[in-house]
Amino acid sequence: MAFNKPRWLLKENKGVFFFSKKKYVFFFTKKHYNEVRMYKIIYKKQLNPEICLLEIEAKDLAIAAKAGQFIVLRIDEQGERFPLTLYDFDREKGTITIVCQAIGVSTKKLCALNVGENILDIAGPLGHATKVENIGKVICIGGGVGTAETYPIAKAMNEKGNDVTVIIGARNKDLVICEKEIKEFCDNVHITTDNGSYGRKGFVTDVLKELLEKNTYDLVFAIGPLIMMKMVSEMTRPKKIKTLVSLNSIMIDGTGMCGGCRVQYDGKTKFTCVDGPEFDGHLVDFEDVMRRNGRYKDKETKAMENYGHKCKIGL
Ligand SMILES: Cc1cc2nc3c(=O)[nH]c(=O)nc-3n(C[C@H](O)[C@H](O)[C@H](O)COP(=O)(O)OP(=O)(O)OC[C@H]3O[C@@H](n4cnc5c(N)ncnc54)[C@H](O)[C@@H]3O)c2cc1C
Ligand code: FES
Repeated sequence: MAFNKPRWLLKENKGVFFFSKKKYVFFFTKKHYNEVRMYKIIYKKQLNPEICLLEIEAKDLAIAAKAGQFIVLRIDEQGERFPLTLYDFDREKGTITIVCQAIGVSTKKLCALNVGENILDIAGPLGHATKVENIGKVICIGGGVGTAETYPIAKAMNEKGNDVTVIIGARNKDLVICEKEIKEFCDNVHITTDNGSYGRKGFVTDVLKELLEKNTYDLVFAIGPLIMMKMVSEMTRPKKIKTLVSLNSIMIDGTGMCGGCRVQYDGKTKFTCVDGPEFDGHLVDFEDVMRRNGRYKDKETKAMENYGHKCKIGL
């Protein structure tokens, strides 16, 4: 059933009227409205102690989704809006898949949801899709949860006939994700862990340095912590290799209205949500993005303390 936007909310917030496209009028109580509109989780997998994968019923989003795009979601009425990349989508099933690292209140709440439970609202797909073309030799680098965001791009680049090399970086063996999925289509996969518990000891940039010394490449993608994307961009700059990064600046509406996600790019102000999220790494002012992303650290820490406190009370 297709609905227009709610036209009139009752003062006491008890329910909502809709005009359907055929001009019928429907009335829902708040409970029923939520049941109709919510996005149901139909599959969940814990990829490691911090990161979960969720497949969600979202037919409209699945139809329009493309690699590189993201969504902005809100778990419940008290929840804040936050962005997550589309990891995968199945147009026939009408589902989207996201991968989320539980690092703060909202992401912990999301990873605590189980199959059968619902997400209140999702806006998307947002941002520009990755331009997938046959360009030649490509390196895709994923750091931490950024590996999940790298996966659909590497897969799409491979399907276009590119020679794809993937570098996965994580703090330790338990935190390496998507290795099996990436190896299904890519023979050149390098893994690094900070403590050497799996793959090579060190950072993704150690492997990148060696690859760049041995071969020439046409494109480098880097998705992960800002500092990693900055270091990768600095490494490819002298060799003039086109380098794309997916910026994770703080977002609120995700539609270009609030200005929360603004970044300095080639001396101009850009909005990550509508101009990105992919940008040429050689033109991004990473220091500015890092400064802006750390602005709410105190509030985030406080919110986490309160959340932990409530959880313990609930036990
Ligand atoms: C385009 C985009 C795609 C992203 N894709 C993924 C993904 O696929 N998987 C994933 O695990 N994470 C992804 N992130 C990061 C994710 O949005 C944040 O981890 C999340 O918002 C943290 O919220 P929190 O309440 O759990 O943590 P908080 O304690 O509130 O914040 C922890 C850190 O997360 C970042 N953050 C907080 N609020 C926001 C916000 N509204 N927008 C952006 N960053 C924020 C800040 O750097 C902050 O220091 C993406 C971010 C962007 C911008
Ligand atoms: S998130 Fe508001 S303008 Fe980008």
